[in-house]
Amino acid sequence: MSRSFAGVHALRDVTLELRRGEIVGLIGPNGAGKSTLVNVLSGFDRPSRGRVELEGRDITRWRPSRRGRAGLARTFQHSHAFRALSVRENVEVAALGAGTRARAARAHAQQLLELLGLDRQADAPADGLAQGDERRLGVARALATSPRFVLLDEPAAGLPEAEVTAFAEAVQTVRGEREAGVLLIDHNMALIMEICDRIHVLDQGRTLAEDTPGVIRANLDVAAAYLGESAVQE
Ligand SMILES: Nc1ncnc2c1ncn2[C@@H]1O[C@H](COP(=O)(O)OP(=O)(O)O)[C@@H](O)[C@H]1O
Ligand SMILES: [Mg+2]
Repeated sequence: MSRSFAGVHALRDVTLELRRGEIVGLIGPNGAGKSTLVNVLSGFDRPSRGRVELEGRDITRWRPSRRGRAGLARTFQHSHAFRALSVRENVEVAALGAGTRARAARAHAQQLLELLGLDRQADAPADGLAQGDERRLGVARALATSPRFVLLDEPAAGLPEAEVTAFAEAVQTVRGEREAGVLLIDHNMALIMEICDRIHVLDQGRTLAEDTPGVIRANLDVAAAYLGESAVQE
């Protein structure tokens, strides 16, 4: 797919495939097109050229809600939570919206709050959470819909180092137990290298590389040696 905005080529002929049960890392500098790709995949934006398929069906013209019902969920870089509701209620509402019955939605919400380490904040208002908690709430809300594919846009940004490990385990649980396909955008290379099966590198809207963490790591090391560490950090 390609997507341009008044002359800015946010995506140029990018092909990405996500299978169930795998974690694909999407990395690249700010402005590389990562969020645009997630927007196009989730239906919040349309490609200028190309198409989006879900398990063989062309869903390019489907609204986000219809994609959600078909098993495709996403998070946002900025909170989309209901500020007047508690953390727990936000997760329950997401489950209810996906058609889960009340009792099951409550149980599912509790399970997700524990999985993401949000159980202590469960009854606090979603308004005024620390940034890391806000991101994890976004992930919990996406998972509450029991997606088969989930697109995570910088979910670990703002998490203290000590919590990144727990977050990584939660993502691996989602992949393992539910056999979800996970697309993970993050600037934390240690996290990306550790949990991804494949890594897709974007730069200025183009695919620079797509390979295993080992190969990408080696490429980044070469780039760092030539360009300086700062060139590959962001
Ligand atoms: N709605 C938009 N209107 C105009 N330009 C946009 C819009 N969304 C993204 N862009 C541009 O597309 C490029 C890619 O942006 P984005 O996908 O947000 O990158 P990333 O998530 O990798 O930081 C940037 O140059 C950005 O300014
Ligand atoms: Mg982005």
